[in-house]
Amino acid sequence: MSEGTARHVVTLVVNGVVREAAVPARRLLSDFLRHDLGLTGTHVGCEHGVCGACTVLLDGEPVRSCLTFAVTVDGHEVTTVEGLAEDGEPSPVQRGFTECHGLQCGFCTPGFLCTATAFLRDNPAPTDEEVLEAVAGNLCRCTGYQNILKAVHRAAEIQAETRGRPEPHGYGTLGGLADRGGRA
Ligand code: FES
Ligand code: FES
Repeated sequence: MSEGTARHVVTLVVNGVVREAAVPARRLLSDFLRHDLGLTGTHVGCEHGVCGACTVLLDGEPVRSCLTFAVTVDGHEVTTVEGLAEDGEPSPVQRGFTECHGLQCGFCTPGFLCTATAFLRDNPAPTDEEVLEAVAGNLCRCTGYQNILKAVHRAAEIQAETRGRPEPHGYGTLGGLADRGGRA
């Protein structure tokens, strides 16, 4: 088999579930999620790392899935917008964006939700400047950002009100995969 047609098995935890697919070495994580796993909630805009629409959480940290090869996340844990809900209910960040209407067309929204989820986990009571900086890597053509900033602050309030609830599912599952040598 030539290098161009060789496929590599990638096994990872996506939204708390072990998933596996055989892909070419150059398959992007964004394409892997959308086309190989059918998780089309992750959007692809610029495809070269500028817009942030494709942002997902890799081991809890935001990454540009359009700049990440799927083979490099073998054995890791990915959370997409489909995995942000908690116990079937919208997460604080999802609720904040809903209550404050932090979106218009919604194309950028999955990336903002993933970015804000990681941000508020690490900084649950941010200042205006910190929120601005946190979302600076996500571009929105529609909203003018004011409602997005309000939404992140509202999400922080909701998160504080609901503190004590468990983390979004999936964050603790990677250990099980790693214990098996990174393979299912
Ligand atoms: S699609 Fe990845 S940063 Fe724009
Ligand atoms: S809501 Fe349309 S690009 Fe952000």
